[in-house]
Amino acid sequence: MSRRKIAAGNWKLNLSFEEAMQLAKSIADEEIPEGVEVVLAAPFPYLKSLRDLTMSIDKLHIAAQNCSEHAKGAYTGEVSVAMLDSIQITHVLVGHSERREYFEDTSEVLSKKLERAFENGLVPIYCCGEPLAIRKDGTHVAFVKKQLEETIFKLERENFSKLILAYEPIWAIGTGETASPEQAQEMHAAIRSVIADKYDTALAESIPILYGGSVKPANAKEIFSQSDVDGGLVGGASLKAESFSEIIKSF
Ligand code: 13P
Repeated sequence: MSRRKIAAGNWKLNLSFEEAMQLAKSIADEEIPEGVEVVLAAPFPYLKSLRDLTMSIDKLHIAAQNCSEHAKGAYTGEVSVAMLDSIQITHVLVGHSERREYFEDTSEVLSKKLERAFENGLVPIYCCGEPLAIRKDGTHVAFVKKQLEETIFKLERENFSKLILAYEPIWAIGTGETASPEQAQEMHAAIRSVIADKYDTALAESIPILYGGSVKPANAKEIFSQSDVDGGLVGGASLKAESFSEIIKSF
């Protein structure tokens, strides 16, 4: 079955406003291949300007990197999904390992964030992935399955069908060490299989699953060519127009 192909850049805590706008302009000026969607996950203060800049390009989406688990109220410093929706932001990262590790995004918190996203019609890009010790143990599939069971497997089928998933092994994030195409394929196929067990095969076959962890122009083609890999969630290599453009063209 042919699934949507997605190249997503996660800028994390990088770039000045000027740099971000320049980078988005360069990406917007490039031809996006047929059947491919591009997502830019940017810092909160830049979202509205980026959205305005790219509004006319259907295949280019702007995402928030996080959102509050609360709908509204006395939560100083937080940004709600309704606020994102009010500036026409359509996607939000949920469950990135850096949020899980440094900001106490537990499964309980992530479930609430997913709920907020769906209430407001945003598409969550849900991230999962194991640390190095778990990979070494050989229990990585069970570990990721548990992450899914505690969060997205609580969703009704209809909401689940709107998700984008990203498998990001923590040991491959920002380390220059990439999962081999076979390691990525093994996990993506395993994720699809547990989705089929929990829901059904049609749903499992329809969900885009992106790989993240040191994706760069030199390895993107081989990783994206795996049958269960539908694209990438790219950190470092998404900060330069040339390298991210090359990745977009790697499908
Ligand atoms: P790197 O591509 O820098 O390894 O980061 C991956 C990532 O965390 C994307 O969300």
